[in-house]
Amino acid sequence: MKLLICAILAYLIGSFPTAYIVGKVFFHKNIFDYGSGNVGTTNAYRVFGKFAGTVVLVIDILKGTLGALMPVFFNLDRHWILFIGIFAVIGHCFSIFLKFRGGKAVATSAGILLAYNPLLFVICFAFLATIVYTTSMVSVASLTTILFFTIATLFLHDWILTTVAAIITVIIYVRHIPNIKRLLKGKENLVPIGLRYKK
Ligand code: G3P
Repeated sequence: MKLLICAILAYLIGSFPTAYIVGKVFFHKNIFDYGSGNVGTTNAYRVFGKFAGTVVLVIDILKGTLGALMPVFFNLDRHWILFIGIFAVIGHCFSIFLKFRGGKAVATSAGILLAYNPLLFVICFAFLATIVYTTSMVSVASLTTILFFTIATLFLHDWILTTVAAIITVIIYVRHIPNIKRLLKGKENLVPIGLRYKK
């Protein structure tokens, strides 16, 4: 019963449509109609600028962290953090407040890692930021980081972490199918940051 409550709460927390609300309240724009049309950090950064993008990033990460920490608040074993965190990611991707539309799972997934192992979170964030800087493409950084991270977990012998990382890898890759198609055509959108972006 406690686990079911945790899963529902995590889903609702993950459903909070940060980029959509920031766009509507502060810019009077529907983010679905701009840039890549994605309700996430990258598109908020692209459409609304650095500050708004950073706000969306922080809140979307914290959604994953707070959702994943539900089992701790309900005195359940720490390993449930990872499984319950998946429900926050599902909420982010299929938000009840956006007619089950949503983002691409990256920031909220990172939030689960922040709740579970802050050091691994910092390492992954640095890895992702380096790829964003060199490619100016967040999709490339997201797809590479989650894949390398999942493979790297094999060396940690934490099978629950590996299993959840693999599930999230599948979610992230499926959510990035439009990006993968654009990448294959050499037409992926850039973000205004890093070495490849030219004003
Ligand atoms: O985290 C989402 C990012 O990887 C891609 O976003 O807006 O370029 O499709 P976007």
